[in-house]
Amino acid sequence: MSDEDVELEARLEEQEVFEPSDAFVEQANVSDAGIYEEFEEEWPECWEGAADLLDWEESYDQVLDDSNPPFYEWFTDGTLNASTNCIDRHLDERGDEAAIEWVGEPVDEDNVTLTYSDLHEKVNEAAAALRDLGVGEDDVVTMYMPMIPELPIAMLACARIGAPHSVVFAGFSADALATRMNSADSEYLVTCDGYYRRGDPLDHLDKANEGLEGVEHDTDTVVVDRLGRNGDDFGHDLADDQHDWGELMADHEGAEVEPVDRDAEDMLFLMYTSGTTGKPKGVKHTTGGYLSWTAWTSQAVLDIKPEDTYFCSADIGWITGHSYIVYGPLALGTTTMMYEGTPDHPDRDRLWEIVEDYGATQLYTAPTAIRAFMKWGEEYPDQHDLSSLRLLGTVGEPINPRAWKWYYKHIGNEECPVVDTWWQTETGGMMVTTLPGVKDMKPGSAGPPLPGLDVQIVDTNGDEVEPGRAGYLTVNKPWPGMLRTLYKNDERFIEEYWAEYSDTDSSDPDDWVYFPEDGAKIDEDGYITVLGRVDDVLNVSGHRLGTMEIESAIVGVEGVAEAAVVGGDHPVKGEAVYAYVIVEDGQEESDEFRAEIVEAVEDAIGPIARPEQVIFTPELPKTRSGKIMRRLLEDIANGEELGNTSTLRNPEIVEDIRQVVQGD
Ligand code: WTA
Repeated sequence: MSDEDVELEARLEEQEVFEPSDAFVEQANVSDAGIYEEFEEEWPECWEGAADLLDWEESYDQVLDDSNPPFYEWFTDGTLNASTNCIDRHLDERGDEAAIEWVGEPVDEDNVTLTYSDLHEKVNEAAAALRDLGVGEDDVVTMYMPMIPELPIAMLACARIGAPHSVVFAGFSADALATRMNSADSEYLVTCDGYYRRGDPLDHLDKANEGLEGVEHDTDTVVVDRLGRNGDDFGHDLADDQHDWGELMADHEGAEVEPVDRDAEDMLFLMYTSGTTGKPKGVKHTTGGYLSWTAWTSQAVLDIKPEDTYFCSADIGWITGHSYIVYGPLALGTTTMMYEGTPDHPDRDRLWEIVEDYGATQLYTAPTAIRAFMKWGEEYPDQHDLSSLRLLGTVGEPINPRAWKWYYKHIGNEECPVVDTWWQTETGGMMVTTLPGVKDMKPGSAGPPLPGLDVQIVDTNGDEVEPGRAGYLTVNKPWPGMLRTLYKNDERFIEEYWAEYSDTDSSDPDDWVYFPEDGAKIDEDGYITVLGRVDDVLNVSGHRLGTMEIESAIVGVEGVAEAAVVGGDHPVKGEAVYAYVIVEDGQEESDEFRAEIVEAVEDAIGPIARPEQVIFTPELPKTRSGKIMRRLLEDIANGEELGNTSTLRNPEIVEDIRQVVQGD
């Protein structure tokens, strides 16, 4: 490092507040600081502006109907179609411009540019094909696909015919697919033969077929041929209820499908996510509120303009990809990028090469990726011209100030604002973050709540805590992008998100408080630092995993008596899975058995849930009432000093486990 660099590091190290550059502010979509006060005064009508970003078939009567909390309704009696909003209405002005730039794994040169006209054509054909297969309005269509262009095409085709989609992350296991299809009574699946990972073809249909075996009702499956065009083939034969995507599209060439008029409150999609219990939750999002929310936040926070080439490196199988690769950016008529591969193949400069080649204007990624980039070193981004970038974003987990500053300096050249966006699958879109053209940034803190949102940090009684003190994050007023319920389970919806801080007998919306299960603190300026989940949900590489789901996979292994799963700190992944396992009498505590446990977790959930360590122990630390003291297990995994163990039934076991994990 040169002397100048050392000095720069020292300066950055100390700096706690960063102003957006004048150049950014001058061109920002939102640059008037008055927006916060204005939205507060005009709430809930302030959200008319978000709805105005869309084209409505029938305009709505009421912005918010809060007569039956927490079942809020937004933009009531308005009707619209999401695919019209993401495609058709842009055709006149942007028909020949790229809607989706798809960058494939570098096995070949078959990157794809889909203009808005191309997208229109393909979505219509797919919509016609799905309808001919029998898909009707409100039928849930499951998608189990990696990052290939047919995924957003299928999603938008469903939106066109009013069929909600339920996308299952391709890295999830066959079991996870079956659970979700059963839970949603989904009779249709769109999947693919396989895809590439670091240059090698991977069989995906095999996994999909295995999942289908666990589905309790009849299904029709559409299979995209991703590998065949490169000559790779796993030799699958399609069954009678399986149809080739390419043939269906050819059969419906040139078809046009009239978009179905959907009520604002009609379901646009379901997304399953992890919660406290072993059963994933089917989060329901609606057409009007969700689309308004993602469009508005894409414009206000990501500063997206139609002429941009916007790059979000998330997977569409998670909510970030739904909201900020597909719906938000396309609603605004911009060019959205999709990357099939990983950031380290063929080399660790892959993302920077893509940014340079396509002239990407925004990059939205996760802290776990940034920590990996940091570890690899700045020589990788330094090989590329990243000057097209105007804004950087992060999402999914807390970002430590060091990683934030590295991103700001080495990717953004100290010229791009960084938006650290806190939100969840359930919130539909961003909730707490700086407006980049208005607010200063404080690394490590997501920022204030967006205008129009009432977020408080409270103690267990629901009273606001002093600045600087840790508490629980709560949202005190509804917002258009919020989940409407858990699929066919209103009771669990109330139990999971509202019961903690609401008077659930009241019909006064002021008595209802949304609890996202995150811990947080706030500073004197109202900036919020999110500390992480306070329930039994882990955040591994920005992916949300339920400890109960992992535990139930482990106790399903023959020879396991009991298991407890906790998260331990990890330098890149943020958190890693630690599994403490008690074996049954006669079962050997061998490496082979460890491997069997790991495999069971991969089968039940997927490789992302793979335990970092499986620790055999004769007992788990338990309170006198028999509750497992997870906190102690976490401390052990983190190599920390152990807290008070006097309330335990079996305090001596803690030291034994500690020695196994930490050594002496
Ligand atoms: C965490 C991802 C700190 C949080 C969009 C939340 C964050 C969970 C941030 C939701 C952030 C997300 N800072 N923590 N900027 N963004 N989280 O549903 O714990 O996959 O509850 O949605 O990720 O994860 P989900």
